[in-house]
Amino acid sequence: MTILVTGGLGFIGSHTIVELIEQGNDCLIIDNLSKSTVEVVQRIETVVQKKVPFLQVEMLDKEALRDVFRAYNISSVIHFAGYKSVGESIERPLLYYQNNIISTLNLLEIMQEFNVKKLVFSSSATVYGDENWPPLKEDLPLSAPNPYGRTKLMLEEILCDFVTANFGWSVALMRYFNPIGAHKSGELGELPFGAPNNLMPHILKVASGEKNSLKIFGGNYDTKDGSCIRDFIHIMDLADGHVKALQYIEKNMGCEAFNLGTGRGYSVLNLIHTFEKVTGEKVPYEIVDRREGDIVVSIADVQKAETSLGWKAKYRLEDMCKDSWRWYQTIGALSIK
Ligand code: UD1
Repeated sequence: MTILVTGGLGFIGSHTIVELIEQGNDCLIIDNLSKSTVEVVQRIETVVQKKVPFLQVEMLDKEALRDVFRAYNISSVIHFAGYKSVGESIERPLLYYQNNIISTLNLLEIMQEFNVKKLVFSSSATVYGDENWPPLKEDLPLSAPNPYGRTKLMLEEILCDFVTANFGWSVALMRYFNPIGAHKSGELGELPFGAPNNLMPHILKVASGEKNSLKIFGGNYDTKDGSCIRDFIHIMDLADGHVKALQYIEKNMGCEAFNLGTGRGYSVLNLIHTFEKVTGEKVPYEIVDRREGDIVVSIADVQKAETSLGWKAKYRLEDMCKDSWRWYQTIGALSIK
């Protein structure tokens, strides 16, 4: 039996594939290569030391997706494929609604056709919106501040409606906090396509001297040092969370959300200083205006993932910084434009 991993060449997908294979599972990667490159397949193979099947498939093409299910004996799906840039989603909302929603609807339809009823879905802590106060617990009221976030929120609702209407299904909605870090081999990491939006890729560019200084968006928030606070989580912990979620839905029916975070918050300045300490590189920065739409503090409540999935984040902030830097020096700098 094969686990289908959609968007399996992206940042979270590629690390999850490694974790799945190392824990003895057979996987098939599909990806349309719109935000990744086929070289990631070889890098995954270098890490796991075996061949990993990959197909370039556009999930908006229902027939192409059906062919995948015809060709492989698929038992469950981990669905990562989707666009994730907040800024782009504000400029091109239809692109986001079309791509993220329609591809998932196609997937559900085909899964139903082939009687595959287990799905782990890549959601985001962005669904907690900006009204809740941390630690953020799975049963809080949800809202989303931008089209990207709304695609995640709508899909969570669509998936739960679908599970309610169809007996025997189990769906896990994984709400990620702030994934950083990279595989310890240096082979895999975050490869943003185009200008990066997230914090760590910017830190890497400044530390390597490609950029003069990091812009910190806001230094007068109501926090200890004035910068925003995030629950940074190592990508390998996140990957392991998916394997645990898959094991959970093997045994439990229904539609359930799980936070994947560490339960600890660090400020943007904390992250920069930790990075400087463990890598020995300087990260010059300047404080600029706040970025519109940023929430001040985002920290996961991790109780549910711990008790239900038997999962707990292991890596420390120091490891996240060290591993990100190793990846950037090995491969990332060559690839991040
Ligand atoms: C962002 C998205 C979120 C999405 C997540 C995906 C926004 C408002 N939120 O989360 O919806 O799910 O990415 O990974 O875009 N920062 C700087 N300088 C930079 C970059 C970031 O100071 O050059 C700060 C931000 O203001 C923020 C923190 O670093 O306080 C983390 O930013 P980022 O990595 O973009 O993640 P989020 O904003 O938490």
